[in-house]
Amino acid sequence: MNTTKSQCVLLTGGAGYVGSHTIIPLIESGYEVVVLDNLSNACKGLEGQKPVPITKVEELTGKEVTFYNVDLLNSNSVSEVFDKHDFCCVIHFAGLKAVGESCHIPLTYYRVNVSGSINLLEVMKAHNVKKLVFSSSSTVYGEPQFLPITEAHSVGNNLLNGYAKSKYYIEGILQDLCNSDKDWSVIILRYFNPVGAHPSGNLGEDPTGIPNNLMPFVAQVAVGSRPCLQVFGNDYDTVDGTGVRDYLHIMDLAEGHVSAVKKLQTNNKNGAVAINLGTGNGYSVLQVIDMFSQVSGRKIPYEIVGRRQGDCASSYCDASFAKDYLGWEAKRTLKEMCQDTWKWQSLYPQGFSTLK
Ligand SMILES: NC(=O)c1ccc[n+]([C@@H]2O[C@H](COP(=O)([O-])OP(=O)(O)OC[C@H]3O[C@@H](n4cnc5c(N)ncnc54)[C@H](O)[C@@H]3O)[C@@H](O)[C@H]2O)c1
Repeated sequence: MNTTKSQCVLLTGGAGYVGSHTIIPLIESGYEVVVLDNLSNACKGLEGQKPVPITKVEELTGKEVTFYNVDLLNSNSVSEVFDKHDFCCVIHFAGLKAVGESCHIPLTYYRVNVSGSINLLEVMKAHNVKKLVFSSSSTVYGEPQFLPITEAHSVGNNLLNGYAKSKYYIEGILQDLCNSDKDWSVIILRYFNPVGAHPSGNLGEDPTGIPNNLMPFVAQVAVGSRPCLQVFGNDYDTVDGTGVRDYLHIMDLAEGHVSAVKKLQTNNKNGAVAINLGTGNGYSVLQVIDMFSQVSGRKIPYEIVGRRQGDCASSYCDASFAKDYLGWEAKRTLKEMCQDTWKWQSLYPQGFSTLK
């Protein structure tokens, strides 16, 4: 199938949490979307059907999304996808993201995240597709040396886990690639803490096993799937002693990708640019629990336990560069983040697993 070059975007890892939500504003902005995902961390769906998040996106948008069950580590299969479409640009979400797990199986993390990215870049180069948006993370900053964190903050220092290092290495590879060939144009998005769900409640974060992040854990406790939340440390130098983070609504983050794609299409200046995506506001763990409790009307039992290795007191960004460069800023409040998470969790208490 051949599609118009200027409007077709490839999403690697597009069946996952951030990718699936991003498809919606892309389609609403007139883009055609092709997803490549090996479904290692996404709900597969019934035999012969598309993955559940993709089916949900199709229902929500009324538009078809082309899907390929392809592993980035298989260059030939990735190349075959590029043979079938003329992509104007690629958004590279695919990768492994569990910080704790990356300390136990670092080689797997480097193979999937770093080697997978190199495979993708080689195939893109061979097909002369040289515009990329890359999902990076605020973890590349390590322990914040100052707040709010600007893009000028040092990266790569004292990174404590393979996940953060893999993102840092990929950012370096992208910089080198852009230095070597002036035709490349890359936007590196450093996400702070994406949370929430599509406001319909029909698409959300669907972690397998025990959630790594605060919001899905709070939601599972609120709905009764888990008995109690552990809060790691209440003796930090913050408003109430618990850790402060920059939470960002997933639909704001999704729209940030559309702004990045548009920027790549109109940009005359090539090279690699790193941009923080966050709200610029920090909320403590207890503030999140309190807000979630208010919007859900549920009590959220929690216990204070010791600090977790690698956690810092506060992390929030200076989001002004995203506004200047992309014309994007986060609009949704913590209340909306909690309301939309609760809607999704109430509609799908077990996530999508029951729909397989
Ligand atoms: N969610 C967050 O809190 C967060 C924060 C910062 C950065 N990020 C980054 O954003 C990206 C997307 O995150 P997410 O939360 O949507 O994660 P996710 O796990 O929900 O989505 C990643 C998708 O990539 C797919 N994938 C993994 N390995 C693959 C491979 N070898 N080939 C093809 N597909 C593969 C998975 O099946 C999954 O659908 C990741 O790169 C992640 O590191 C996420």
